[in-house]
Amino acid sequence: MTIDNFIDILPHSAADLESLLDCANRLKSEPNAFERPLSGYTVGMILQKPSMRTRVSFEVGLNRLGGHLIQLSPTDIGFGTREPLSDMMGVLSRYCNALILRVKHHTDLLACLQHSSIPIINGLSDESHPCQALADIMTVLECKSRDAKIVYIGDGNNVCQSLIDICSVLSLNLTVITPEGHAPKHPRNATITHTMTACAGADVLYTDVWMSMGQESVDVAVFQPYQINDSVLATAQPDAIVMHCLPAVRGEEITDSVLTGSQSVVFQQAENRMYAQQAIMIMLMRRSLWKQWY
Ligand code: CP
Ligand code: NVA
Repeated sequence: MTIDNFIDILPHSAADLESLLDCANRLKSEPNAFERPLSGYTVGMILQKPSMRTRVSFEVGLNRLGGHLIQLSPTDIGFGTREPLSDMMGVLSRYCNALILRVKHHTDLLACLQHSSIPIINGLSDESHPCQALADIMTVLECKSRDAKIVYIGDGNNVCQSLIDICSVLSLNLTVITPEGHAPKHPRNATITHTMTACAGADVLYTDVWMSMGQESVDVAVFQPYQINDSVLATAQPDAIVMHCLPAVRGEEITDSVLTGSQSVVFQQAENRMYAQQAIMIMLMRRSLWKQWY
């Protein structure tokens, strides 16, 4: 059964994720393939943390599909303070066709979902970043084959968890290398290790910041051996690609030379956010149309 929200990767079946990837690829290769399927649809967006890519890619993507996005500043609407989330969701469900939420606490997403009669899309929480993961795999499959060796290096954070989840559902080959004490919560079927030798022969090297938004401090020394730099890249396949969800901290998780080097696909990856999210929005808001397509 198709799930009517995009809070996390895992409840979605492999077939549904493949349909999303197919739709995203079509939207990218034939931007006018679909006749403004979200014309007349309004989506609210509440971002409790800073954002550039998520904000712009959703807004531009929705506009191109004929829909309209409303930014709701959490301060202006008093998110979680001015009224209970249940009342906020009861009301927003009467105005909007879907809601995108970036929250400090994943539990707030679940609370909103409980009181919502419209689809909710997770635009990043402390636990996961499923829209990112869909765009990441779209990018991997544009550049590499399905048996590519994908290696994520760094903190076992929200981005890492959603990557693990999507690789697990789609049976892709993922190795996660983290410092001890920073392994992801739910390894699923990824290989988890603490040794950088596991980068050997990688087709994809992926990293994210060592200190995520909302974290107060990080021991940089613990993470330093896990930096993607030229010597780490040299242990991967000669044609390996380098990925990062951005924003990056140059000189910490990745060096400037690797981030801006010829093997980096970070802008292609960021671009794909838009197509992946367009597909998610069509799936969630145009159910009957989606069933005709897939
Ligand atoms: N990758 C990503 O989600 O970027 P933003 O935080 O800028 O939205
Ligand atoms: N792990 C990062 C991702 C930012 C897009 C964070 O949560 O800050």
